[in-house]
Amino acid sequence: MDHFLYRDGALYAEDVPISEIAAAVGTPFYVYSTATLLRHFQLFDDALDGTDHLVCYAMKAASNQAILKTLARAGAGMDVVSGGEYLRAKAAGVPGDKIVFSGVGKTADEIRTALTGGIRQFNVESEPEMEVINAIALELGVVAPITVRVNPDVDAKTHAKIATGKSENKFGIPIARASEVYGHAASLPGLEVIGIDVHIGSQLTELEPFEMAYTKVAELTEKLRSEGHNIRRLDLGGGLGIPYTRANDAPPLPVEYGALIKKTLGHLGCEIEIEPGRLIAGNAGLMVSKVIYVKSGEGRDFLILDGAMNDLIRPAMYEAHHDIVAVDEPAPGVEQQPYDIVGPVCESGDTFAKERNMPPLAPGDLVAFRSAGAYGAVMSSEYNTRPLIPEVLVHGDQFAVIRERPSFDEIINRDTIPEWL
Ligand code: LLP
Repeated sequence: MDHFLYRDGALYAEDVPISEIAAAVGTPFYVYSTATLLRHFQLFDDALDGTDHLVCYAMKAASNQAILKTLARAGAGMDVVSGGEYLRAKAAGVPGDKIVFSGVGKTADEIRTALTGGIRQFNVESEPEMEVINAIALELGVVAPITVRVNPDVDAKTHAKIATGKSENKFGIPIARASEVYGHAASLPGLEVIGIDVHIGSQLTELEPFEMAYTKVAELTEKLRSEGHNIRRLDLGGGLGIPYTRANDAPPLPVEYGALIKKTLGHLGCEIEIEPGRLIAGNAGLMVSKVIYVKSGEGRDFLILDGAMNDLIRPAMYEAHHDIVAVDEPAPGVEQQPYDIVGPVCESGDTFAKERNMPPLAPGDLVAFRSAGAYGAVMSSEYNTRPLIPEVLVHGDQFAVIRERPSFDEIINRDTIPEWL
């Protein structure tokens, strides 16, 4: 459920008409709903009720500080994957002891930044990385809390580009080598081994792969404990999928996911961490764009928008589907017609949807891409020297620009010309 609904024939974000935001900030833009963000966070928090747990929002999904602050105030920790994300979380007021550092290639500088600023734990992805964390911790005179990310060799049954839990993927250490790697970690005085980490992929629409992975983690916990490791925290990653189409997909609910966690791991008495990103932010955000032209082609009409692949890359990159709706609610019974919905960028890949049924639209009309809150703004670029589009946060009947659209001068003046030119 989200808070983007039609009222009196117009699409609203909570109590603010989308058209009002468009008039104030121009198009295209991203808009997020505070109530939806909080609702989704709360679903996870409630799903783990009765278990010692922390929901660490995977901020890669949508990392604006206003979003982080909204979630942190509700009690969320953060899952970060770069020094930049770590500093951004800190800037949003998240304390170090609620920040988990994941990622397959943490640099020495990033590790130093996190160890200096305070960190809940590093999710270590390889033995060479373990050695570097150990060396930096010793140099700083601290002990680094770590889990090791294990790769359980489970098929997440999702898009190949976002599956991470098979042995051929670059992530984690093979679960079969866990004893050896944990033995190595325990021998390093700058590290304190506290738990196990696993993350098998994103946009999972079934519970079965989670069940297989978590069952393996439960077995591994007992094994490592029997080998003398004090395993007391399990980081179970993110990945629970969201419905991208209103009509027909219904991934498992957080409450069902929570019940699975309790069933597979509850008996171990560990603290549980989860790292959801998409489910918290995805349906809490829209990208709003304007029709520039309607062009008749060979056997099809093109809807040419002012938003493009640089603003929302998911359709071009993952063949992802986003529902696209007219901001002015179509009259009941209005006949729909198929459009190819495209942006102005000079590549055929800049196509959001093919033969998508839409009500008749004209230049100047606004459309909204649903489910664009996660991996939307964060993956945007200035390709074609198109400015990064603004982000807006709605809270009840208020809205605020939480990232401004840069001016062309700002963009152009970022280049510096060598003295020989
Ligand atoms: N934890 C780790 C270690 C991750 O790598 C990820 C996502 C998450 C948590 C959050 O997963 P989520 O709950 O959001 O599924 N750009 C792609 C998605 C990439 C996901 C990468 N890792 C997309 O637009 O679909």
